[in-house]
Amino acid sequence: MIYAPSLPRLGVFAAWRDAARALASNNVSPDQIQWRMEGAECGLFGSGAALPAAQPMTMPKDFLPLAKLVCASRATGAHDLLYRVLLRCRGNAGLLGNRADAEVQQLEALAKNIRRDMHKMKAFVRFREVTPQGANRRQFLSWFEPDHCIEELIAGFFTRRFADMDWVIVTPEVTTRFEGGTLTHEALRSDRLDLRDEIENLWRTYYANIFNPARLKIKAMQLEMPKKYWKNLPEADLIPGLIAQAEARVHQMQQDAPTLPPMRAERILDRLPARAKAENIHDCARCPIGAQATQAVPGDGPHDARLMIVGEQPGDREDLSGKPFVGPAGQVLDSALSEAGLDRSAAYTTSAVKHFKFQPRGKRRIHQSPNRSEISACRIWLTQEIATIQPALIVALGSAAAEALTGNGAQIMVRRGKIETSLEGLPVLISVHPSAILRSSDSANLRGMMLDDLKQARIMIDALENGTQATQAALS
Ligand code: URA
Repeated sequence: MIYAPSLPRLGVFAAWRDAARALASNNVSPDQIQWRMEGAECGLFGSGAALPAAQPMTMPKDFLPLAKLVCASRATGAHDLLYRVLLRCRGNAGLLGNRADAEVQQLEALAKNIRRDMHKMKAFVRFREVTPQGANRRQFLSWFEPDHCIEELIAGFFTRRFADMDWVIVTPEVTTRFEGGTLTHEALRSDRLDLRDEIENLWRTYYANIFNPARLKIKAMQLEMPKKYWKNLPEADLIPGLIAQAEARVHQMQQDAPTLPPMRAERILDRLPARAKAENIHDCARCPIGAQATQAVPGDGPHDARLMIVGEQPGDREDLSGKPFVGPAGQVLDSALSEAGLDRSAAYTTSAVKHFKFQPRGKRRIHQSPNRSEISACRIWLTQEIATIQPALIVALGSAAAEALTGNGAQIMVRRGKIETSLEGLPVLISVHPSAILRSSDSANLRGMMLDDLKQARIMIDALENGTQATQAALS
C-alpha cells in the first residue's frame, strides 16, 4: 500500500508531524510513502491511501527542533529523510548525537541551509514606509525571496524586533502581516514588488559612506551578500560603481595625503601623543566657557556602542552631576528613545560642547548657545570620543551637534531625517534637539520628528546588528 501525505505551504511542520506520527506509530516503511508538497502534481499513486489512525507514540525531544527546520526545506527527499531518521531514532535514542551517521549528517546539512536562509532574510529584508496620512501606527512593506519555506519560522524574529509598527513581508508564495499586534500568514502568489522610498536613500547614503575603497574584498562581499539578493537591496546598485572606482579613489587618497617633509612630519607626530596625554578634558581651557562651569561633562555609555547620540552642551543639571542628558532634555530624549525601541544604556551619549555655557540671572543660570568658535575648540574631545567608540551610526541632535560633526552649520529643519557624513566619514543622522521640543509651541510636532528620526536610527542599527555587518564588513 502506498501513502502520499500532502504537505501544505503553511503549517508544513504540523502536517508532516501528524502524518509521520500516524505512519510511524503503525510501522509504515519509508518505501511506502511519497511525501508531496500541496499543489505539486500527484505521483503514480495519486493522493495515496488514507492514513492509518495514529497510535500513542512520542517523538524524541531533540528530533522536533531539527524536524521543524528541515520541514521548511525545498530540497528533494528532505521529508523522506526526516521520516527515515525518525524511525531509526525509536530504537536508538542517541542517534542524533552521532555526527558520523550519514543520514544525521544529511539532516544537519539541510538544517544548516535553512538557518542560513533565515539569517539572510534577517539581514536583507528592507522595510519601506507606506504609512497613509492619519494612521496611528507606522506601516512598512518589504519584499523578500527566500530559498526555502521559512516565512513562518522567521516571523517571530520580526514581530519582536518591530513590535511597535505594522508591517507586511511579501514573498513569492506567502504574505506575512503584522497588524495591530496580530500576526497572520497567507499563502498567496505574488510578483516581485518594486519599492522605493526615503529609507532607501538612507541606505544608499549609508553604504556609500562606509565603503572604503582601500579595503575592497570582492570575494568576501559576494560570499556574504550573494548577487541574487542585490536586486532587492537599495544599496546594491551602488556596488558595481564603487568597485569600479575603487582603484582610482585609492590613488586619489594617496595623492591627497599630506606631503609634509619627513623630518617635520616626524616632529609633529612625536608631539601629538604627548600633547594628548598632557591635555585633560577637565582642565580644558581651549575656550572661555569652562572657566564658568562646574565641571566638564564628557560622554557616557559603553565603549562598544553601535549608536552615538550627540547633543549640544550640558545644561544646569548635567553641569552639577557631570553626566550628559540627566535633566529635562534628557527626560525628553529618554522617552523618545524608549518609544523608538532604542536602549539608551546601549548607546553612547555625549554633547558637542563639554561645558555648560550660561548667563547668571539672580540665582538662575540661563542657557546660552555655544558659538561657532566654541564648538570648533571643543571638537577635539568629540573627535577622541568618536575614535574610541567607532559607532556605526551617529545621531546629531540639533544644530550645534550637526555643525560639530559635519562642519556644516546650515538650518536643521531642512536637514533632519537625512544622513550626512561626519568629518571622519561616519554616517550622521540629523535630528532636532530635545530642548527645542521643550521650548517650542509646536512641541508635539517636533517630538514626532525626533521620534521618526530615532525609529529610522533603530531600523538601521537593527539591520546592522542582524547580519548586515556582513555587508559592512565586506564593504569596509
Ligand atoms: N543638552 C545636551 O545637548 N546635552 C546634555 O547633556 C543635556 C542637554
